[in-house]
Amino acid sequence: MINLDWKNTDAAVIGKEHGLDVKKEFFEYKQKISEIVSDIYANRDVPGKWLAWMNLGYKEELVKEINEYAQSVKGKFDNLLILGIGGSALGGICVTEALLKPYWNLLDKEQRNGFPGIFFVDNIDPDQINGLLDILDLKKTLVNVITKSGTTAETMSAFMILQEKLEKELGSSSKENIVTTTDKTKGILREITEDKGYKSFIVPDDVGGRFSVFSAVGLLPFALTGIDISEILKGVRDMDNALQSTDVENNIAAQNALIHYLMDKKGKNLSVMMPYSSRLRFVSDWYVQLWAESLGKEVDLDGNGVNVGPTPVKALGATDQHSQIQLYNEGPNDKLINFIRVSEFDTELKIPSVLQDTGIGYLGGKTVNDLINAEADATRVAVTDYKRPNIVINVPKVNGYYMGQLLYMLEVQTAIAGALYNIDTFNQPGVEQGKNYTYALMGRKNYEQTAEELKQKLHN
Ligand code: PA5
Repeated sequence: MINLDWKNTDAAVIGKEHGLDVKKEFFEYKQKISEIVSDIYANRDVPGKWLAWMNLGYKEELVKEINEYAQSVKGKFDNLLILGIGGSALGGICVTEALLKPYWNLLDKEQRNGFPGIFFVDNIDPDQINGLLDILDLKKTLVNVITKSGTTAETMSAFMILQEKLEKELGSSSKENIVTTTDKTKGILREITEDKGYKSFIVPDDVGGRFSVFSAVGLLPFALTGIDISEILKGVRDMDNALQSTDVENNIAAQNALIHYLMDKKGKNLSVMMPYSSRLRFVSDWYVQLWAESLGKEVDLDGNGVNVGPTPVKALGATDQHSQIQLYNEGPNDKLINFIRVSEFDTELKIPSVLQDTGIGYLGGKTVNDLINAEADATRVAVTDYKRPNIVINVPKVNGYYMGQLLYMLEVQTAIAGALYNIDTFNQPGVEQGKNYTYALMGRKNYEQTAEELKQKLHN
């Protein structure tokens, strides 16, 4: 199992001013954590609680359906193009980057065992989309459009561009090149899907975008690129099992949620995610969205204005040692750093014993594996010397099983943190406002009044 080392958040290590008496806090919050964990687990099947993501590790029928579809299209496409944004893209980006062979899209089809290259359009930059369209052979491209609401302007505009191009190039058979992932009944994409007869998968009810990585939102792209989704889900289930412990002493998600919550109270309201693995670099992006959208809230569950939320920050070890660590060590002591340390890499890379009579000779004969973990350990100790609280998430290996564990652990951690803050973890009213203004600016029907108000605000 992945594990958590929080000792460098303890006052015994970094001093009272910046550290916690962790064991004492675990004792004091024992009852509260027990209630929160019991409540979350008791409500996982209750409609409207937005906890259905906790059940995604157990959907055998869905796994079968996805694998069958992936098998049926295997070899037919050179490219898989994902259209989605936010929670409809980040899980896919994070897991495929971690689990596909590095530089996947530069391998030829044979080296990819017949599976397609994968591209994500998760923004609406015209130059980037045009650039991608210039290189993709659309006849050989499967487009997976992913949007829970079925209305998101960024995703749907990209879809409109792709749909028109595919229809022009392929006529009626273009529908074979489109697969949609959206709500079961609601939304414009669902209507279009039914009308055109596209193959489609469902974003289940009570699963918010940022918690959807283990639904068809993530599983379909994974299976289409040859990733073993059963292995991922086994990791999810094993972690789910471990996190059912209501005892904070035995629940790593509860421990990390509580430490973050208490550190925030001590003025350390920046949560840095810093994996020492390039393959895990997008775990940080995924975590940033999960943490920010879930915990950044204006009011609590009792209607009090609170404006809470630790700010998540992404970093990458060792790269950002040469960019951010100066600030982390000597700038304001307002951060809790989460290092992710990988014990075993898939391959080994030796540094040759050359240039022995120069100042870099000491590196010869070692491995890059030794170097990255030496840097992870050295940075952790250095940061601790500066009395900066930090946590290590130890990941034995970057594979599907541990990715399932890691992401699920962070999801449960977020749900527990939200309960500690007494906020609605699963809504995102602050995102909706911007979406509504965009609809108004782009002339969507029924947004005329908002458009008028907006015009005035823009010109003031
Ligand atoms: O987590 C969320 O709910 C959001 O980030 C959404 O995923 C994002 O806004 C995209 O929404 P949709 O899937 O409806 O297109």
